[in-house]
Amino acid sequence: MKIEFISSSLAQLPTPALAVTGFEGSPASSGTAELLPPETRSLLEELKAGGELTGKALETTLLHRPPGLAAKKLLLVGAGKREKASRDLTRKLAGAVTRYLRARGLHELAWAVDGAGGAESIEAAVEGAILGDYDADRYRTEGNSERRIDRLVLATGGLAASAASLPSEAMRQAAERGRVIAEAQNFVRDLVNEPSNRMTPTYLAEQASQMAARFGLECRVLDAEEIRNRKLGALWAVAQGSEEPPKLIVIRYEPADLAEVRHASAATSSVIGLVGKGVTFDTGGISIKPAADMHEMKTDMAGGATMLGVMQAIAQLKPRVRVMALVPATENMPSGKAFKPGDVVTSMSGKTIVILNTDAEGRLVLADALTYAKELGATVLIDAATLTGAVTIALGNITTGVFGWNKEWVDKVLASAAATGERMWPLPVDDEYREQYKSMIADLANTGGRYGGAITAAMFVGEFAGDTPWVHLDIAGTRWSNEEKPYRAKGPTGHGVPTLVHLLMNLGS
Ligand code: BES
Ligand code: MN
Ligand code: ZN
Repeated sequence: MKIEFISSSLAQLPTPALAVTGFEGSPASSGTAELLPPETRSLLEELKAGGELTGKALETTLLHRPPGLAAKKLLLVGAGKREKASRDLTRKLAGAVTRYLRARGLHELAWAVDGAGGAESIEAAVEGAILGDYDADRYRTEGNSERRIDRLVLATGGLAASAASLPSEAMRQAAERGRVIAEAQNFVRDLVNEPSNRMTPTYLAEQASQMAARFGLECRVLDAEEIRNRKLGALWAVAQGSEEPPKLIVIRYEPADLAEVRHASAATSSVIGLVGKGVTFDTGGISIKPAADMHEMKTDMAGGATMLGVMQAIAQLKPRVRVMALVPATENMPSGKAFKPGDVVTSMSGKTIVILNTDAEGRLVLADALTYAKELGATVLIDAATLTGAVTIALGNITTGVFGWNKEWVDKVLASAAATGERMWPLPVDDEYREQYKSMIADLANTGGRYGGAITAAMFVGEFAGDTPWVHLDIAGTRWSNEEKPYRAKGPTGHGVPTLVHLLMNLGS
């Protein structure tokens, strides 16, 4: 999607469709509807009086040949109650506008920029439009995939004085940030949506190295032999049942002004290790899953995809902090070579693990990837993983579970989530849960039973972070949306990218 600013007056803007917002109760005279010429607004007032226009959230009203405007169509989208205005809502409004117009064959739209919302609202609008323009329909040979919006005009002509209507540097940067983050999310969505017959560990590694090459990042992929030689025994145990060889993807980002970073505050001298679960298909292994929803397990590499998306974004936005991403990629398959319940494996850290359930494989691949990240110099660890069904019972598909012993870093992640409008919420970790995954046979057991399943899974992973500050995001629920929304297609979400990018961007400043 091409994004441009145009500062000619709203009335004279030559566009196939101009989109404006209006709040509930006064849809014709609030939001950006307020910026329209009197002639247009009086028609909107009429529609309001007739009860056709209410301004309720996501209500769409399309006018053809609107009076007083050069635009061929005017789309008014309801912004809901004024006191509920937020960055996330702006994102949804722009998404709804995009999906509404492209469904009617339009390829271009103009979005009236809100004076009140500032640069933040521009970022959100661009994000919303690009996210809204996405459909997970790559493999439909018949359908509407050609229905895309390919040009988004940010119309600043409604803003007060003529000088103020020229886009400021802050506005341009905000639009660029919105583009980069939303495109990174769409990249994640494409990866997550890819079926496992194509999305093998090898393919994921190829995608990662192509992305890295395109955006100037360093990428190294450990193959099966190196994984075995370096004694990543927990990752190896999961991988051994599959015909597809495992990969461990490592991507690094170094800020250009590294010398400056070294002399900066403690936060900026940290090396952030992002670790994402990359199970390209999770059958459960010998502890095999029921057939019913097993196809959903093609998404079990969403954590890894999220971290690749974050790297793609920061390569462009250039935070002043060193970052590495590690994605342990493997299938979890039953076979004559597969690991079995009762097996004892030795992780890279030296800790031994008794396997009680081969379906608790995520924590095993993360264990070794965290250990390896520390060996490579990570001083802060953040992992994202579709780790447990239990977290979806607790928080549904709306909210990501956040775990960690280090309150400072957990709070930083939660603050970034709040700032970007992503729903994330803390769940506890506590020594008392440890008993649940202790074993007589080995140092640890790979399951802690049904009760508090998301917590014991998180804590198991945390055992391998040791004293290194660590935050775990369980995205099993939020990776995927089961419902089609007016502003977002059903399917992969790209959830987590905005929060982590925000976090990294704010570390170096
Ligand atoms: N990949 C699954 C978790 C999952 C479930 C992700 C639903 C997305 C949607 C994970 O590997 C798993 O199987 N976890 C088990 C752990 C159990 C065996 C201790 C689970 O949650 O049932
Ligand atoms: Mn599993
Ligand atoms: Zn899994």
